[in-house]
Formats: sequence, C-alpha cells, structure tokens
Amino acid sequence: MKNILVTGGAGYIGSHICLHLQAGGFHPIVLDNFSNGHRDALAADIPVIDGDIRDQTALDLVFERYHPDAVIHMAALIEAGVSMREPARFYDVNTHGSMVLLDAMRRHDCNRIVFSSTAAVYGNAGLEYLDETLPIRPESPYGKSKAMVETILADYASIYGFHALALRYFNAAGADPAGRAGERHDPETHLIPLALQAAAGLRDGMKIFGTDYDTPDGTCIRDYIHVDDLANAHIAALHHVIGQTDPNFDSINIGTGDGCSVKDIMQLCQDVTGRKFAVTNEDRRDGDPARLIANPAKAKAVLGWTAKYTDPRDIIAHAWAYFTKND
Ligand SMILES: NC(=O)c1ccc[n+]([C@@H]2O[C@H](COP(=O)([O-])OP(=O)(O)OC[C@H]3O[C@@H](n4cnc5c(N)ncnc54)[C@H](O)[C@@H]3O)[C@@H](O)[C@H]2O)c1
Repeated sequence: MKNILVTGGAGYIGSHICLHLQAGGFHPIVLDNFSNGHRDALAADIPVIDGDIRDQTALDLVFERYHPDAVIHMAALIEAGVSMREPARFYDVNTHGSMVLLDAMRRHDCNRIVFSSTAAVYGNAGLEYLDETLPIRPESPYGKSKAMVETILADYASIYGFHALALRYFNAAGADPAGRAGERHDPETHLIPLALQAAAGLRDGMKIFGTDYDTPDGTCIRDYIHVDDLANAHIAALHHVIGQTDPNFDSINIGTGDGCSVKDIMQLCQDVTGRKFAVTNEDRRDGDPARLIANPAKAKAVLGWTAKYTDPRDIIAHAWAYFTKND
C-alpha cells in the first residue's frame, strides 16, 4: 500500500481526499497545523501530525517515519480577499512553505506531487471558458502565491526530475454524499455554506455583490465543482504522477465546464432547503471576475476524469444534509 503525505489534510477538501485515498487503497498521512482544519474530520486510523509545512524538522520526522511515495500538497491560506490586505502571510505560507516542503521531498528522495492550485491564477481573463493554454495573470497575492508554486514545480520537474501536477480547482462546494465530511471554514466566506446559514436562520439574509456584470442576470458566474468529484480527480492525478516514467510538470483545470450565477445559487439554496431568506443587492467588490468557468477537456484527456455532479442542486443538497446533521 502506498503512503501518501497529505498536507492540509484536515481541511475541507483534504478530509474528503483522505476518504477517497483510503477507499482507493492508499495510506494517507496528514500533516496539518490546524489553523483551519479539524481533527475529527479524519478517520481515527489516519496518522495525523500536528505540524507546519514551514518547519523543516517536523517534515524530516514525517519523511523519516513514513517514507511517503507521493505528496498531495493542500496546506495553504485560502482567502483571496484577505491576501489583498495581508500579502506577506500568503507568500510565507503558500509560496515559502511550499519550497520548504519541496526541499524536504528532495532530501528524502520523494519526487511525486499533486499540488492544489486554483482558477485564481487566470485572473480576470474575460473569456467564456478558461483553458490551461491561457497566460497566467493572477490578480490577488493569493493567486500569485499559487502561480509562483506552479513556476517552481516546473523548474523542479525539469531540473530535479520531479513528477508534478497542479490541479487548478474552480469553486469547490458540497459535502461527502454519505455525510462523513463537509465544509466547516471559520470564518466562512464561501457562497453556498453562507447561503445555507441564511436558510437556517443563522444570518440575516445574503448580499449579492454586483448586479451589473455582463452576464445574463448581471451577477457573477462561477463553476461549482462537487468536493466528491474534486477528491476523485486527486486519485486520478495521483495514479498519473505515480505511473509516470519521465519527469514532468503539468497544470490541469478541475471544474464542470458549466457556470451558475450568484443569483441562481441564492434561489437554488432556497428551493433545495425549502426555506426563504432575504437577498439584498450591493455594489461590486474589487477583483471579482464576471465569469470563471473551466474548460475541463484536458482533465478528461490526461486523467480520464470528468465531473459526475453537474447539477448544482446535488451539491447544495449534500451540503445542506451535512449542515443540518452537524448544526
Ligand atoms: N475551497 C476552494 O474552493 C478552493 C479553490 C481553489 C483552490 N483551493 C485550494 O485547495 C486547498 C485546500 O482548500 P480548503 O478549502 O480545503 O481549505 P482549508 O482551509 O479547509 O484547508 C487547508 C488546510 O491547510 C492547513 N494549513 C494551513 N496552513 C498550514 C501550514 N502552514 N502548515 C500546515 N497546515 C496548514 C489548515 O489548517 C487547513 O486544514 C488550498 O490549497 C486552497 O488554496 C481551494
């Protein structure tokens, strides 16, 4: 059984990936500093190290003890909005932290990695669909901190012989369909969990930031990818980097290829939960692109992966089931 080091594995997406790793016959080992993760999100038989990716000593101990065959690197600060005010923290954790991890991998002869990148690397491309051939133009320090890691990985592949794959996630949402894991960010800033809090009466309605975008209903459009599909994509990506003979770096979009507007999500959340909440219109926020929709063709061609959940109602229904069970 292959050992897989999962940094940030106690987080939202990481905890779902660990479920899929175990189901797929892998042995996950989680390194997380619990700045945003939850120990109870992980099965009791998963080794969990409470440590920081910037801590060389902690990394050496993990690599010496578990000899991971590959790494899924998710540990990061994730809020693009916060990065506009506090860029130093984002470059420190996301970029410098990734380098400390990559150099621990080199010291311990582990050179296969799947990296959590983001659609934010495209910035405001102004196109209907985003594909991987587009130039990288991140706008926030968050997006830049991830784009820098992609650049570093490309060099580590060509010069140090790494097998590296960056998955550019679009908007992760939903919860494990069996209810074993879900989204618990604190503070929560993602649209669907916030709308579900409003549906549950835990917040006074929802605000839509910008209703004058060049989209059919004037609100921003995003590609919502079910976290279960995202986890499956990581298993496919892991098989890809483990099976590779020649060193390589590549970037692949993980999205559905369909978009849903903020207004639609507000309505669907009310329809799925059967609960009404107030929705008010506000001015645009800085840096929100009108549309971010993946062209997912490369994921299908390279990984044989496509999204199974293409109806946002399923995503919302699974998130609501998890929310009501754990509220
Ligand atoms: N959620 C999304 O829609 C989305 C979209 C694109 C990319 N991503 C990327 O996916 C990854 C996971 O996102 P998520 O939504 O699960 O976030 P999350 O905050 O739930 O998970 C991140 C985990 O990393 C841990 N962590 C943070 N800094 C650390 C450090 N220095 N050392 C060790 N652990 C650390 C946190 O405690 C947390 O458990 C991130 O890299 C994020 O940038 C997420």
